Amino acid sequence: MVFILLNYKTFDEGTGQKSVDIARACRDVSESSGIEIAVAPQFADLFRVSSSVDIPIFAQHVDGIGSGSNTGQVYARCLREAGATGSLINHSEKRMTLADIERSLLSLYENRMRSVVCTNNVATTAAAAALSPDYVAIEPPELIGTGVPVSKANPGIITDSVEAARKINKKVIVLCGAGISKGEDLKAAIELGAGGVLLASGIIKAKDPKVALEDLVSLI
Ligand code: G3P
Repeated sequence: MVFILLNYKTFDEGTGQKSVDIARACRDVSESSGIEIAVAPQFADLFRVSSSVDIPIFAQHVDGIGSGSNTGQVYARCLREAGATGSLINHSEKRMTLADIERSLLSLYENRMRSVVCTNNVATTAAAAALSPDYVAIEPPELIGTGVPVSKANPGIITDSVEAARKINKKVIVLCGAGISKGEDLKAAIELGAGGVLLASGIIKAKDPKVALEDLVSLI
């Protein structure tokens, strides 16, 4: 089953009440297409979105800490209480050490939440797959936010990542991201072996996010 995860980053277009409007568009397009579309709003909008829309909700980051003296850190249990069912880990804009990635994954497992570990090349994809997340999302940093789709600019990084992950852990699903916005980008990603996409600006900053989402799923 194809999986789409929409990262809101800190775009104004997805902040506050707009986070709910975009989540509603995702729900509508998910219902009409049958494709799972999850959203990753900012932390402070998680509860607002989960209270309004019944689709999978991810955090943009989680720390591998538990209850205690951890000021400013992100606690998986609190994310779950806010309605999140998963989290991104190690996004290019929020890099972590391998040890910290493992701790964050453990905190998600303990809270029965889904995990997406982002990676920047084939070697880090293999390392991430060894930690058994649900998904690894390969995103070449130089293509993020450019509108140039990874599935066209660097298809080899997707096929090589799929192969590398498969060798390490067959259960891990590889997503790809960076510059994805159109139906042809998603179709190409799936043809290259990805299980779905992680994307942001092409939808969040679109004039009409719902129309952009409809185009995204139109060829699947
Ligand atoms: O997390 C998604 C991401 O980094 C890709 O961003 O704007 O190129 O879709 P974008």
